[in-house]
Amino acid sequence: MEAQTSEKAPRQMTGAELKSMLKSSINFKSLGGMRCEELNLPAKEKQWWTDCKIGMFVHWGLYSALGHGEWAKFNEQIPDEDYEKLAKELATEEFHPKEWVALAEDFGAKYMVMVTRHHDGFALWDSPGSYGGFTSKNMGPHRDFVQEYADACRKAGLHVGLYYSTMDWRFPGYFDPLGQPESAAQMKAQCYAQVEELCSRFAPDILWYDGSWLAHEGSDASAAWFWEPVKLNKLARSWRPKLLINPRSGWEGDFYCDEGSHEIDGGIVPVLWEKNMCICSGCSWGYMENDPVSDFDWLIRMMVNVVCRGGNWLVNIGPDKNGKVSEEIKTRIHEVGEWLRTYGESIYETTAGPYEPVDGVYGSTFRGDTVYLHILDTEAFEKVLLPEIGNEIMEAALYDGRPVGIFREEGMPDVGSAAAAENGDRGIRLALPDVMQGADTIVVLKMKDTVCRETEEIHFTGKE
Ligand code: GLC
Repeated sequence: MEAQTSEKAPRQMTGAELKSMLKSSINFKSLGGMRCEELNLPAKEKQWWTDCKIGMFVHWGLYSALGHGEWAKFNEQIPDEDYEKLAKELATEEFHPKEWVALAEDFGAKYMVMVTRHHDGFALWDSPGSYGGFTSKNMGPHRDFVQEYADACRKAGLHVGLYYSTMDWRFPGYFDPLGQPESAAQMKAQCYAQVEELCSRFAPDILWYDGSWLAHEGSDASAAWFWEPVKLNKLARSWRPKLLINPRSGWEGDFYCDEGSHEIDGGIVPVLWEKNMCICSGCSWGYMENDPVSDFDWLIRMMVNVVCRGGNWLVNIGPDKNGKVSEEIKTRIHEVGEWLRTYGESIYETTAGPYEPVDGVYGSTFRGDTVYLHILDTEAFEKVLLPEIGNEIMEAALYDGRPVGIFREEGMPDVGSAAAAENGDRGIRLALPDVMQGADTIVVLKMKDTVCRETEEIHFTGKE
């Protein structure tokens, strides 16, 4: 690992303070979860995840048969008996989850996260712990999709992530845990049984919780008294000692989550984090017909903005009831994958920095003695002065090898950028050859020495 962590005790702050310090749009969910020394994984056990950078998320379940998003059952107050009938409509045509794995590979993803059971309670595996036997093995397709998915992922060399919603709308106790404690206890028992099934049977690398808030109120962290997430995650880790766990169970987790399609700007985020969002509009995570696919350039810039700020990028697809995605989605997946096949060296297994990003203009990643500048606005970049970082730039070139001019500037009067002002007009200016403005113009810098970036560890004290 090249990013050096200082010996100092972690700085304490809230999510709001972090945002303000970094001037960032980042929005971490579920901060302030319980702490537990014993559950903390050493940094080296999380490095593989940071190195992966790109993941694919899949929301698929009974709701995919309706096409109104994964909240349809609750939003439309569909009675259980009607909702259950949807099982007959699932995967009636030829389909295998390995098709999702093939899409993830085409996208350039190194890990996947599949929804194994959403808030509707329908488990996509053969789950003895499911309340009422509400599973894809017992009903409709009579298949264990999680097993098929996990096998396919492993075969392709992708890390296996499992999304699991602790809560389940079928239990009245979810909405009134104090008034209906027996029902709430049944829901909790189901959660413990199913988490154990998932961890013992499918050997996941990532456990991605959601929905630990109670009665749709408060936050996942505020419901920790109910779920006892330390106990729950010790159970998970008893099966998978190196499992990476997100923060949404009410325990603080191994990494933080920023959810949704909002832009990411501001400084490099000094904690492990992941942005999860949809490849389509983001109006829902589950299937919606004619959901517009995001623009290619916009997606690339989003990825670059995330990775240059130290994050992983987890991108969701919502296949239809037969597990398929549209040609438009497939095309976009392929285009992003093509980009990553060409420029992935500047993304995978890199560290954010050493230069702090300038919103809308550029950001950087590095590995060893190589720095990749990701330039989002070539015209604005001409005015940028790269600050001195105590490591000399020996060579600068575009990805295709065309040389980039290196000029050391001392007190240039004509550079009006914010970066220049901060550096008292001292720094390095790079002169790009004539390049077409694309989604991301990459300049490769060969440095004299291995690049290091000092990072300060942050500990969140609570509020989001
Ligand atoms: C939100 C949505 C939920 C979805 C999740 C994905 O929590 O409510 O339906 O599964 O985001 O991160």
